[in-house]
Amino acid sequence: MVNQSIMGGSVGDFFDQVSEQYDQSIEKAIPPYREMFQAILGYCFWDRAQSLSILELGCGTGNLSLYIREIFPKAQLTLVDLSGEMLEHAAQKLGSGHITLVNQGFMSLDFADNTFDLVVSSMALHHLLDSEKPELYTRIYRWLKPNGLFRCGDETLAVPAEAHALNLSQWESWARQCGATQADIDLWSEHAEKYDHYAPLASHFQWLAQSGFQEIECYWRKLMWTVFGGRKPAS
Ligand SMILES: C[S@@+](CC[C@H](N)C(=O)[O-])C[C@H]1O[C@@H](n2cnc3c(N)ncnc32)[C@H](O)[C@@H]1O
Repeated sequence: MVNQSIMGGSVGDFFDQVSEQYDQSIEKAIPPYREMFQAILGYCFWDRAQSLSILELGCGTGNLSLYIREIFPKAQLTLVDLSGEMLEHAAQKLGSGHITLVNQGFMSLDFADNTFDLVVSSMALHHLLDSEKPELYTRIYRWLKPNGLFRCGDETLAVPAEAHALNLSQWESWARQCGATQADIDLWSEHAEKYDHYAPLASHFQWLAQSGFQEIECYWRKLMWTVFGGRKPAS
């Protein structure tokens, strides 16, 4: 049983409170964590030497952000997170230079149209309600430059329900093999019950298509962790 005060507030409060323990817990609890990062960026077909403008939604403690910097060293990064504590950890990891930090919720963001070459996110957008996701995808589409890419790694809901239940039980034994303790499993299971809203991949595809995205594709999947995205057409 997890200390209930951690689960008492908003999702931002939750991440503020777990920010210190986040890195060591998440690596054990999500066995394909780093592999998912590789899939998110591996399917971005940009020249590594380009000075790209990249938005990361829900950067947390900056683990994907650091990897973005490794793959696209000249990129200008805009990192968004609702949790000031998580963002603070990201700031410490990344240092200064070519980086803008935005401590705000996804649905209150307001960027100019045609700003970013690439929008990425890892395990963050499922904190929105399904009713909010299509609106966010429409905004991401607007913020992207023509030809811009959206790449999202996130938990999705397998169908039928038995498939999702099987994924959850396979996750638990995989996480234990990777060193997750009962406390790690409880923390993330109870977090999921309270704060997560997984949607089927088919719904994400539909919302992306409705927003105008093309080349909508699933690039990688392990249990519920899924990397998918699309491209804003050139004109
Ligand atoms: C599970 S963590 C993932 C962090 C990081 N992307 C990673 O892969 O380790 C989810 C992050 O999304 C942020 N988040 C959740 N809902 C949000 C919202 N509505 N607006 C902005 N950030 C949000 C949380 O504060 C948290 O830092």
